[in-house]
Amino acid sequence: MKLFDVYPLYEVCPVKAKDVHVYDAGGTEYLDLYGGHAVISVGHSHPHYVNRIQEQLHNIAFYSNAVENPLQQQLADEIGLQSCLHEYQLFLCSSGAEANENALKLASFYNGKKRVVAFKNAFHGRTSAAVATTDNQAINAPLNQQQEVTFIPFNDAAALEQELQKGDVCAVIFEPIQGVGGLDIPEDDFVLAMEKLCYQYDTALIADEVQSGFSRSGTFFAFQKNNIKPHVISMAKGMGNGFPIGGILVHPDIKPKYGMLGTTFGGNHLACTASLAVLEILKKEKLQLHAQEMEGYFRSCAEKIEGVKIKGRGLMLGLEFDYEVAPLRKRLIYEKKIFTGGSSNKNVIRILPPLTVKKSHFDQFFDALEALL
Ligand SMILES: Cc1ncc(COP(=O)(O)O)c(C=O)c1O
Repeated sequence: MKLFDVYPLYEVCPVKAKDVHVYDAGGTEYLDLYGGHAVISVGHSHPHYVNRIQEQLHNIAFYSNAVENPLQQQLADEIGLQSCLHEYQLFLCSSGAEANENALKLASFYNGKKRVVAFKNAFHGRTSAAVATTDNQAINAPLNQQQEVTFIPFNDAAALEQELQKGDVCAVIFEPIQGVGGLDIPEDDFVLAMEKLCYQYDTALIADEVQSGFSRSGTFFAFQKNNIKPHVISMAKGMGNGFPIGGILVHPDIKPKYGMLGTTFGGNHLACTASLAVLEILKKEKLQLHAQEMEGYFRSCAEKIEGVKIKGRGLMLGLEFDYEVAPLRKRLIYEKKIFTGGSSNKNVIRILPPLTVKKSHFDQFFDALEALL
């Protein structure tokens, strides 16, 4: 049987990984500044993570959401503790798109409306409503285009109010730091205005923290820099360090009802254990603070490159050149053995390393870049 060929591939085949490195079968070491697309948070195959999952596998890996699973409550408590969002409620699923799908559905249940406002260059996933709120017509099938979505630019509070005034918008969904779009960040004043307008017009505010959440931005969630209270917060990637887990945090104003949301795999024993292990490592190794420090170091190195704009925050960073970077990224992989990320902004290299990355790894990257430029 052939694979359904939807991914253009680099000719690299990792068979082993450790902390910030992956290795192919011949033992060639690659520096992973991509984190498998911002997924690897506490480092590849961290011993504590491996032990916790192994132990759980010997006990119970899965049972359905029809029975009690205290690991879900433990996970909710620990996310509450580390994010300081104790009053929110946790619903678990298995991916970023699924988290956004549930967030949007919940918003619509909450206020009975059905149009969504999203932002230019947004990426929220590839399923039904999630892909409809993604600003890329090439991945929106006619089926998805049935959703009612209006795209507006960041930082245009008047345009936002004009849409909300129409009274039919169930949710405004935004990435506090755009990922796929190329690391753009809405201005602080606009984020505050957006929160105010959403509450004023009975519209749910959804913060998509699928990529920026779980300490990658240097705060537990990126939106916390603005001290706002979104109605729903979606999360996934770094949550499981590679184990598929996603979730939403739901504001206490939104009340649950049996059957409102549901999933077979979401919140299973193995997934909860993987995420608990991630949180334990984040705390023990103070990786949130480390992300802030490493951002500072990265910026100090990047500032020395002429004509380059530094974008993003924490360890969700980008370098914007005044030309397309695909050939440069290819050379970084094949000649310098360094993985980086691309973006829908073709001039941006994305840097999304495991949060355990050290100064020496960035030194290696900037030396490689200097040699290639
Ligand atoms: C901000 C954001 N939201 C949602 C998603 C979709 O997540 P998934 O690929 O797990 O469905 C992504 C994936 O890149 C993302 O970056």
